[in-house]
Amino acid sequence: MIIAIDGPAGSGKSTIAREVAKRLGMRYLDTGAMYRTVALLALEAGLLPDRIHEAAALATKSDLRFVDQADDLTRAFIGDREVTEEIRGREVSKAVSPVSADAAVRTLLTAQQREAAAHGDVVLEGRDTGTVVFPDADVKIYLVASIEERARRRRAQLLAKGTDQSQEELVADIGARDAYDSGRDIAPLYKAGDAVEIDTTGMTIPEVIQAVCSLVEAKRLHLAAPAEAAPQAAAAPSGPAAVPAKAKKYLLSRMIGGPLDSLLYRFAFSFIPPVWRRLFRMKIKGVEHIPASGAVLLVSNHRSNLDPFFVGVSFPRQIHFMAKAELWKFKPLGKLIDILGTFPVNRGEADRTAVKRALDTLAAGAVVGMFPEGHRQRTGEVGQIQSGVSLFALREGVVTIPMMLDGTERVVKKGLMRFHRVRVAFGPPLELPGAEVPRAQRAVLVTERLNQAFHELLESLPEAR
Ligand code: DC
Repeated sequence: MIIAIDGPAGSGKSTIAREVAKRLGMRYLDTGAMYRTVALLALEAGLLPDRIHEAAALATKSDLRFVDQADDLTRAFIGDREVTEEIRGREVSKAVSPVSADAAVRTLLTAQQREAAAHGDVVLEGRDTGTVVFPDADVKIYLVASIEERARRRRAQLLAKGTDQSQEELVADIGARDAYDSGRDIAPLYKAGDAVEIDTTGMTIPEVIQAVCSLVEAKRLHLAAPAEAAPQAAAAPSGPAAVPAKAKKYLLSRMIGGPLDSLLYRFAFSFIPPVWRRLFRMKIKGVEHIPASGAVLLVSNHRSNLDPFFVGVSFPRQIHFMAKAELWKFKPLGKLIDILGTFPVNRGEADRTAVKRALDTLAAGAVVGMFPEGHRQRTGEVGQIQSGVSLFALREGVVTIPMMLDGTERVVKKGLMRFHRVRVAFGPPLELPGAEVPRAQRAVLVTERLNQAFHELLESLPEAR
């Protein structure tokens, strides 16, 4: 698992990343120490300000080494010389921004960071670890804090080491570094779209650590084997009897894959599909890819609240949809979709009940429908695929079928229904990586391939407008 923690200077990254790594038994990589060491080399070789472009070659020749420490700053060495303290001094802090903006330096250090993190679990900390170094990191955190707070923290650190610098000076230094880091052309500091921002102003260190660890736990739950995802799942029999408590109160939804279940669904859908398909002049292609029986994970793009109906009328088998829990707030709708076998998921959290329900449904040889983009993409683009989908796609015996809906984003406008054309395409089963690939990497591959399949399907559709 890769955890990327980015943020501006003094936001608390080092302390938090180190503590999180320690608590979770992971390795820790301070990428800032690497840039600082190259900056020290460049300073000493007189490469600043005009010959920074020579810094990468010098760094390649010099023997740079970094040693993680459980309880202290990462130690840095140039050959046998230890520079742990020096690289954190004021001179280097001032020189590091222009050095870290050099393309060759970034290419060199990014490659080294990827290599260093290639094996096992690691927490990386820096400016671009979640955007450039590992854009597919499992957990991305963006730490921020007010500039005054960051200057106060830096001052306390310096005082502890016996040096002092005024609050005003530190605010100015940090402000300049923020501007440089965010404004540079290459790998500027910014929050990745899928990063979780934590404002640490006014938070204690244990509080921030706890927040990060909770996010990691939630992610683990999604990525992990079912035994970890829902400990009771391993012991409980799969199929109807294992339906989670939330769903039990609805008698009918206990019948996953059973005759009554599908009968109700068939009844509800027996007269709707032909009319619906005609109203929207639907064109459906790729149905030959759909297995007639057995566990199927149907993953569709998502553009409209009506998408489940468009999927339902296009697909020849009953689908158990995972749908946002908010839909159950409107009780009659909740009852209806429950009868149809849809089940709720609380988005943005590790919803064990929903995970277990989906796994049980697949184990019963039925079809589970999901919208892995998480949110509707009303512009017609393909959205970011949530990596949680891999937990289901990677189950043994599950066939994952990608599907693309086009035109549904125009069906409801200003609360009115418009009978726009809708196109649907099913793709061939997703080719999934085997057990020889590490689990975290497999999850990344699933999202990549799904993303690729969505784009291919979108291109294969005739213009629907
Ligand atoms: O986190 P830090 O203050 O030790 O980082 C030192 C400098 O290195 C900082 O000014 C920006 C740069 N840096 C970077 O550009 N990319 C990273 N991944 C880490 C640090």
